[in-house]
Amino acid sequence: MTRINEHYQKLQAGYLFPEIGRRVAAFAKANPDAPLIRLGIGDVTEPLAPAIVSAMRDAVDELGTPDGFRGYPPDRGYDFLLDAIAEHDYAARGVELSSDEIFVSDGSKCDSGNIQEIFGSECKFAVTDPVYPVYVDTNVMAGRTGEAQSDGRYAGITYIAATEANGFAPGPPDQRVDLVYLCSPNNPTGTVADRNVLEQWVGWARSNDAILIFDAAYEAFITDPALPHSIFEIPGARECAIEMRSFSKRAGFTGVRCAYTVIPKELTGTLPNGERSSIHSQWARRQATKFNGVSYPVQRAAAAVYTPEGKKQTGEQVAFYMENARRLREGLSSAGFTVFGGVHAPYIWMRTPEGLGSWEFFDRLLSESHVVGTPGAGFGPSGEGYFRLSAFNSRENVDDALERVKTAFGS
Ligand code: MLT
Repeated sequence: MTRINEHYQKLQAGYLFPEIGRRVAAFAKANPDAPLIRLGIGDVTEPLAPAIVSAMRDAVDELGTPDGFRGYPPDRGYDFLLDAIAEHDYAARGVELSSDEIFVSDGSKCDSGNIQEIFGSECKFAVTDPVYPVYVDTNVMAGRTGEAQSDGRYAGITYIAATEANGFAPGPPDQRVDLVYLCSPNNPTGTVADRNVLEQWVGWARSNDAILIFDAAYEAFITDPALPHSIFEIPGARECAIEMRSFSKRAGFTGVRCAYTVIPKELTGTLPNGERSSIHSQWARRQATKFNGVSYPVQRAAAAVYTPEGKKQTGEQVAFYMENARRLREGLSSAGFTVFGGVHAPYIWMRTPEGLGSWEFFDRLLSESHVVGTPGAGFGPSGEGYFRLSAFNSRENVDDALERVKTAFGS
């Protein structure tokens, strides 16, 4: 008899987005003529920018020549991409990091799910609630939690409520934990942590000998230049933080797949004998064993994001989505909805109308307005009573969805 990993049995229902997909597919099957508009999963809709397409095409051509052919890519990524990341994403904002502190990967979902593997199974961790489900589920799978309780929270996790009262950007918890997952700009609430909040976190992590896992997948959507884009803009963060970033949303790579994780050399954890040991080496060892890198054409495509044309074209795409977010936010708000986010992130976080539960609103919006969103409760118990709309869609669909929501539920 082959035993399976029993921790998987603790997971609640399906992963959020497949569950939404299942409900939408069932509805579409029963109502084949219903004109659905999907503002659920945050998946980009604009075509790849021309600078990216041309870099990818050139790289493919190169691979078809004897001199340009390449086999396995380097473990952490090609120097041309690592150097471009260090220069444009960090040095340009006053953050010095060495390009060998960057690990190129095929996505921030994978990195934020895999990173827990390099920490001890007894490590205690905290998440904000509502939360991107990957941080929680991967730790459940690894056996770092107890069972799910009646309120939907797992035993053994420290949940930090992100509420209207704290602007959905809570500060550190009262008790010590080893690891904290932070996401800013935040998925799902679409809000952003300012410098003051990030300084509190870095100060807390340093005095508690804890590590912050900072997911900055949506940093390109920050519209106020004074707001930090990186946790490493906060002094002292090199000793207590890991950062993840992605090309998925900033450059339309959700299907192409490219992201990266930064682990400063100063960051250490503790061995059983109490000695300090490098987290960077631990992750390098993990990646070298389990990951064979990102393909050459994809890394060339990612590097093209940093060329003058690439920056301009992807910047226009980000601005396009943010104009969608502005229309949703302002349109809903003037129709009497209470709305958050959407200023520095492509997500709108709205209170559900008429006191409806999140899934109840999801079902009604789907059946009455044929609009798909994401129920806040799917991101954790503190998301109950809220609903997320994604700004990733065509202008026409966003405007149409807005009118439908206003007509069915507006005051
Ligand atoms: C979301 O809708 O929350 C995102 O698309 C999920 C992801 O990036 O994995």
